[in-house]
Parts: sequence; C-alpha cells; structure tokens
Amino acid sequence: MNPVLVSAPSNIALIKYMGKIEGSGNKPTNSSLSYTLENLKTFVRLTQIDQGEDQWKPLVRPDLEHLDLSERGKLRFLKHFSNLKEKWNINATFLIESANNFPSDCGLASSASSFAALTLAAAEVFQNMNPQIWGTDKKTLSELSRQGSGSSCRSLFGPWALWQHEYAEPMGLELTDMHHIVVVVEDSKKQISSSEAHKLVTTSPRFEGRPERAEIRLKDLVNALRFNDWHLARQIVWDEFVDMHRLFETSTPSFSYMTADSKQVLEDCQNFWTKWQDGPLVTMDAGANVHMLFRQDQKKSFADYREHFAAKYKVLAFEGVKHDVH
Ligand code: DP6
Repeated sequence: MNPVLVSAPSNIALIKYMGKIEGSGNKPTNSSLSYTLENLKTFVRLTQIDQGEDQWKPLVRPDLEHLDLSERGKLRFLKHFSNLKEKWNINATFLIESANNFPSDCGLASSASSFAALTLAAAEVFQNMNPQIWGTDKKTLSELSRQGSGSSCRSLFGPWALWQHEYAEPMGLELTDMHHIVVVVEDSKKQISSSEAHKLVTTSPRFEGRPERAEIRLKDLVNALRFNDWHLARQIVWDEFVDMHRLFETSTPSFSYMTADSKQVLEDCQNFWTKWQDGPLVTMDAGANVHMLFRQDQKKSFADYREHFAAKYKVLAFEGVKHDVH
C-alpha cells in the first residue's frame, strides 16, 4: 500500500477552550471560536510496515522543519493513533512520520495541527482497509480528533471554526484572508502544558461563571464580526484572553505565562490602538507569545507592527492567504 501524506493547519482561538469535563475525551466546558492559520501546518505521512509496533519518526523533507517530539509527546501521538485503529478495527502496523512547516522552538502550539493531520491521515489510509470508513463526515472526524487534543477539532474547518460540545463546524463569517503576526517573546518549552492548565483553572474562584462569560462573548463577537464592528470585536477578543490569563493567575497553585516582554508588547498594542483608533485583534494562548490578526485592508499597519516589534523580538509574520473554505 502506498504511503499517505496529509497536512492540516493550526488555528488560533479568539474565544478560548479553557476547562474541560474530566474524563470526557476533551469535551469543553464552553464553546470556542477560532481562525484557521493556513500558513502554519503539520504534515503527517503514514506507511504500513510489516511487523512490530507503530512507530513515530520525524518526517524529513527539505521544506519542513526538523521535529523532535518529547517522549511524552510521542506516546500521546501514538496513543491517539492506536485509539483510531481500535475504533476502525484496523490491525495493521504503521510508521507515522510528522513535521511542521514552522519551527518547533518558536513557542507555537502544534498539537492542533498535528492531531488534526494524524486523524485525517488515518481516515484516509484506513479506508482502504475498512470500507465502512469511506465517506466518514468531517463532524465525525472532528469529534475523533478532539479526543486526541481538543483544539485540533477546529483545525478541520476554515477560515472560521466553532466548537460546541462534541465537534467543531465551519462558521460562516465574511472576514477572511487575515494577516497574522506572532511576537515570539518566549521560545522555550512551557512549564505548564495546556492540558495541565485545563485542570488547574477549575480551582480558580473565577472559574465559576467562566463558561457563561465565554458564551456571552462568543455571541457578542460573532455579532460584532457580522456587523463589521471592529472596535467591539477587538475589545471582546482582548477581554477574553485576559479572562483566561486571570484564571491561570488565580488557580491553586497559581501560574502565569505572561512575561515582562509579553506585557510590554500588549502595552505597545494598546498605545497604538489609542493613537490610531484601529489595529489588529490581539490574543494570547496558554503561552507568553502575542498573536495579532489584521484585516486584509490593514496591510500597511501589518507592515508597521511587524517592523516595530521585529526591532526587539523574534516576529513571525504571515500575509493573509486565500482560505480554502473547508
Ligand atoms: C489555550 O487543545 O492544547 O490554546 O485538549 O488538553 O490537548 P488538550 O488542550 P489544547 O488546549 C488549547 C488551549 C488554548 C485555547 C484554545 O485553543 O482554544
């Protein structure tokens, strides 16, 4: 059987998945909304091998970055693959190779794109072995991917994905082809993984009411984006990541990803906004880096921000690309 090569994009949540129902296979305590990052991709190649156990290796290709998964990362990836095999009654053994087109030492999460790519690759290769898999719909694949890593269920759709309960679905919003900047203020491995953060936040007194706050923001953000109210959209997105980071800081034990540099970058963003009354949507994940999303017509401001932050920090900047609507 020929090897199968599949890729999937990463995504950035504007309404965050933070908090899950323990033991539920990553069912979230609130809905989330993300923008798909078509420039940041994971590639997964599956090759059937004769015997032994499934194995993981980095995918070596000149256009991809070298990926060095930790022992834990490897086990988690292999476990998801073995769950998919069990679900679809597959007995064959595979070599799984994967790599990203973005550096793994830049502090960008790759679990969303990698688990989505692995799920899609498995569905493609297994359908030759089990005809029942033919035509499995994307909601089912999203649900399966979620069980590997929650945020990955949104990476199957784009440009916008809404995840409620079991799986994600595409969300029809006109805003597309956004420019994206990541100011990389910290590129070392995180002390607290997002999976651990999901557990810890439930100890915060602020977790009470968090699902409700997220749902209200989701509704308001969708309306703001539908009515092109960029000011309001930006404020909601800002409040949302601040809310998430406050959960981290008020958990027991408390923790924080914010560094002095993250705070400086955020302050600069605020000052630019006050000055120009315009600017990007700004958000942060469970990490120190700051993400910015610009409308297509903000190309000049995209270039200015890029130049401003690149003078002091590592900056990844991606011009908006046409999304395949999927
Ligand atoms: C802060 O999807 O990495 O990026 O389900 O445990 O794999 P697991 O968690 P993960 O959590 C992502 C959290 C976030 C917000 C988001 O992407 O919605």
